[in-house]
Amino acid sequence: MHLRLLTTLLLAACAIGAAHAATVASVESPGGVLRVELDLHEGRLGYRVLRLGEPVIDTSALGFMLRGSGRLERNLALSAQATRHVDSTWEQPWGERRFVRDHHNELRASFTETIAPGRRFDIVFRVFDDGLGFRYEVPAPHAAAGAPGDADGTGAAAPEWIIDDELTEFAIHRAEGTPPPTAWWIPAGEWNRYEYLYQRTPLAEVGMAHTPITLRTHDGLHLAFHEAALLDYSGMWLRRVEGGRLRAQLAPASEGWKVKRRLPFHTPWRTVQITDSAAALYRSSDLILNLNAPNRLGDVSWFEPAKYVGIWWSLHLETETWATGPRHGATTRNTRRYIDFAADHGFRGVLVEGWNPGWDGQWFGNGYGFDFTRATPGFDIEALAAHARRRGVHLVGHHETGCAASHYEDQMDAAFAMNARLGIDVVKTGYVCDAGGMERRLPDGRIAREWHDGQWSSNHHQRVLEAAARHRIAINTHEPIKDTGLRRTWPNWVTREGARGMEYGAWGQPPNPPEHEANLVFTRMLSGPMDFTPGILSLQGRGQAIQTTLAKQLALYVVLYSPLQMAADLPEHYARHMDAFGFIRDVPVDWEETRVLDGEVGDFAVIARQERGGEDWYLGAVTDEHGRVLEVPLHFLAPGRRYIAEVHRDGKGAHWRDAPFEFVREERAVTASDTLVLTLAPGGGQAVRFRAERPAP
Ligand code: NOJ
Ligand code: CA
Repeated sequence: MHLRLLTTLLLAACAIGAAHAATVASVESPGGVLRVELDLHEGRLGYRVLRLGEPVIDTSALGFMLRGSGRLERNLALSAQATRHVDSTWEQPWGERRFVRDHHNELRASFTETIAPGRRFDIVFRVFDDGLGFRYEVPAPHAAAGAPGDADGTGAAAPEWIIDDELTEFAIHRAEGTPPPTAWWIPAGEWNRYEYLYQRTPLAEVGMAHTPITLRTHDGLHLAFHEAALLDYSGMWLRRVEGGRLRAQLAPASEGWKVKRRLPFHTPWRTVQITDSAAALYRSSDLILNLNAPNRLGDVSWFEPAKYVGIWWSLHLETETWATGPRHGATTRNTRRYIDFAADHGFRGVLVEGWNPGWDGQWFGNGYGFDFTRATPGFDIEALAAHARRRGVHLVGHHETGCAASHYEDQMDAAFAMNARLGIDVVKTGYVCDAGGMERRLPDGRIAREWHDGQWSSNHHQRVLEAAARHRIAINTHEPIKDTGLRRTWPNWVTREGARGMEYGAWGQPPNPPEHEANLVFTRMLSGPMDFTPGILSLQGRGQAIQTTLAKQLALYVVLYSPLQMAADLPEHYARHMDAFGFIRDVPVDWEETRVLDGEVGDFAVIARQERGGEDWYLGAVTDEHGRVLEVPLHFLAPGRRYIAEVHRDGKGAHWRDAPFEFVREERAVTASDTLVLTLAPGGGQAVRFRAERPAP
């Protein structure tokens, strides 16, 4: 930068300083619903958000704490700004809806430090009518000697930033005298990754939270904070500070800093969803996908959204074992039984856990014994893959790493090649160890331990994903890093865990309570698909019952979206519930359109989805521990068309605690002008297929 320009900036900064806070740039959403204003207050940058003229986010800090060169938040001057309007629609290869509209206004504002070292960054806001995202973009350093950015005067400006933290804040507005917003959240920086029960507390009682975190203000405004496109960066935790402010705290790296990046780079998008209702909040999650870059893999039609069964629930019930021995689950004979069951009932996949060496002994948090290219002697993988192929079924791979992530990277390419040869085109990965225990091998061979959501782990997942894509393999990550919409760019990252799934129903300690899924819909599910593994029609874990009714197990297939859904129970259990099992067999996993018809965070949710490329609609409704009667107008159906509603509902007297098997399957003709009355039992649910009748020829 020329000296003259720097002087101008300095003068501008002084002028702004004298006038106190000044709005230096602003942008509105396309429909004028949201407005973002950028302020400079004595050279300190902040942003705020208004909705329909009312404050939602009060002036909140932006900036960085950088190692070596200190905080980057003051003495800033605006050097340029530009806006842009985008209205485009793109097609998902698979998803909750086929077409996604990206309609936003963008503001790019460039800031320069008016004192040495004269660092620069852009802040880019994309503002939709139902939320926004912003990110920092740090340009390449100046090369000219004496220019700002040339910290040591040599002309070699710092080529990298070591970020000790982001200073990004979200100051939630609260009008004087009004009750505090309610927050639904799980703790971050604790041992169990993302697997906690959602807490509902006043905002002031939030500690350090993972995102998405969902808030509801006293007058019903719904907010969710998350991030999009988390790549080569640390996951953002949110720490509540001073009343109603949430401040970014990035997951640490083993080196002690949070992030290290060469310039130029940009951060993930920090996202805020803002809507009038819980239902609209779910819908607004499209902005997370919109903020991710388009598909880089090209044609991914080789990935087929599908349902799978597998040798899994028995392991969690402890009737079979991952380890070899008399109760080993992954035997050739047992797997053949599952393959035949899958083929007989139209399931594409058969997951087998415990198929490879490494499970004998202490594998939890120690995955050095895992071999991903060899099967145990009792598992004839070649013969089983051939049998599966003959029956039109695919084995689903399982790569539990026990968090020995570098050890896994050594083998993954060979393992994926073997998988591809055997027709195994989906692999479930796993990272079971306490949070902060991901094992990274350093160049000198020593092991460092990383967080599941630190920068190194973000890059690890990226390496796995790209290696898998080279072999046309889709990945389903358990104990993952959170979902930030990268499936748009790499559509082979199809689903993941990242919350308490059905397995907690097997273990207890404590089991998932009836409100769990109604919490998930409006928190975890805002971030993307989840491999929850529903469909436990036996409703029985190890020593305790699962806290849902039978009908609710069916509803979960519609309510909790995933392009891979497991029918998680044992074949012999399904044999006892064939009327209910029919719904699991028929329900699709890929959708043309999705509508959240009704819901309240943590209380209930009603979701309708239309089969992709089909005419039928499916509805799922779940409630918490309270029974409910909900009226659902069927406006989403095609007008003038007759449908047969195949209703799977809680029977009379059903209750998750003492009458969970009370279940009714019935059919009736409906049209779009009808209203369905859903009666949900305490802990219950309902699943409906609307089968379009063929019009008379
Ligand atoms: C935890 C996963 O969530 C579960 O599905 C799997 O069976 C075990 N880890 C073993 O890998
Ligand atoms: Ca898990």
